Amino acid sequence: MSEPVPGVRLLHDAPLKSRNTFGVQARAAVLAEVADTAALATVLALPEFAGRAPLVLGGGSNLLFAGDPDAPVLALTGQGVRVLADDGDRVVVRADAGVTWHGFVMHTLAQGWCGLENLALIPGTVGAAPIQNIGAYGVEVREFVHTVEACEPATGTIHRLDAAACAFAYRDSVFKHQPDRFIVTAVEFALSRTPALKLDYAGIADEVAAMGITQPTAQNVADAVIAIRRRKLPDPAVLGNAGSFFKNPIVAQAQADALLAQHPDMPVFRGNDAATRKLSAAWFIDRCGWKGHRDGDAGVAPTHALVLVNHGGASGRQLLDLAHRIADSVHERFGVAIEPEPRVIGASW
Ligand code: FAD
Ligand code: EPU
Repeated sequence: MSEPVPGVRLLHDAPLKSRNTFGVQARAAVLAEVADTAALATVLALPEFAGRAPLVLGGGSNLLFAGDPDAPVLALTGQGVRVLADDGDRVVVRADAGVTWHGFVMHTLAQGWCGLENLALIPGTVGAAPIQNIGAYGVEVREFVHTVEACEPATGTIHRLDAAACAFAYRDSVFKHQPDRFIVTAVEFALSRTPALKLDYAGIADEVAAMGITQPTAQNVADAVIAIRRRKLPDPAVLGNAGSFFKNPIVAQAQADALLAQHPDMPVFRGNDAATRKLSAAWFIDRCGWKGHRDGDAGVAPTHALVLVNHGGASGRQLLDLAHRIADSVHERFGVAIEPEPRVIGASW
């Protein structure tokens, strides 16, 4: 067993149930909690870590442990937030990877810095936000990412990636394509004191109006998003889940048109570019009759067809089996392949 490293908590045979929002059982042979990224190089050189890309674990809200992780697990717990530049309107603010995302959003709004309001109440950490380019209510985080600071464990090099280098797309980035290449240590965001509110996504304008507000602030928009999310999505503290289990499929326009001809009520959104369309995985799953379905403790939320839930004792394997049956039924009925959004650990999709 390794010597203690200052600022690092090293745990062996660590339970992961409370570290993933599905609340499934898994164990890490070794888990290091690192508060100061200056200690990263020392941790990565420990015998338990040496030569192996770690699994970086944030809030565990976009992961499914279908088995124990083979890799050593790393959790960054740094809580630093500081302003790097401020010209009176535009602010560049840096947050450590370990900062809670929702807390950070609330902090920026309290300072009068606008931009992240539609992304309120997304669980997890700042460090994970660029991994899948988190998005909600018509906004994606890529619009506000200035720089992602990341350590490459294989070489120890510290990289500073601008938004273009991150190759962001819908639920996608360079980090998703090379999941073991980077440890995101901090993210710098460019925000503005001038609000540019986005109220056009279904439900937000109505929610704001129902709150009796005619001239909304960014904080009002965040409050509306929070209210809608609380109604639609189960709280992981009450019912284990990882948000949307499947990504919305992006298909060629011709395939979307053919499906639309058969199903005129099918929702269709713009894809990553003008030649593609984003379809609604929730709509397909709902039409296949899965909403509220339950197999033992593995199920589909009664309030949202895209959310797989753990009613208590489901294993990651049981949730993965259910996900496969759902995806197979959608493919059989609509000819559309749907893929998981969370990273599946200990099994392949
Ligand atoms: P984890 O689940 O711990 O990790 C997710 C992935 O990121 C893993 O591959 C992990 O290895 C990697 N990772 C994490 N931190 C780092 C790091 N520092 N460096 C390198 N890799 C890292 N997502 C949305 O986009 N929009 C939503 O509206 C949304 N709503 C949700 C609602 C609920 C109720 C839940 C449970 C989840 C929701 N999610 C949503 C998914 C999830 O909250 C986000 O993807 C979030 O960014 C994951 O953060 P995390 O810290 O929990 O990451
Ligand atoms: N729908 C159904 N049945 C349902 C739920 C939804 O048919 O049970 C249909 C409705 O037609 C609805 C459409 O699906 O209009 C879209 O539903 P919703 O607005 O809830 O959005 P979503 O596509 O299901 C996406 C993100 C969410 C994000 C919301 C709000 C993905 C995979 N999911 O959900 O992100 O919060 O939009 O912007 O893109 C997550 O990634 O974990 C997540 C929760």
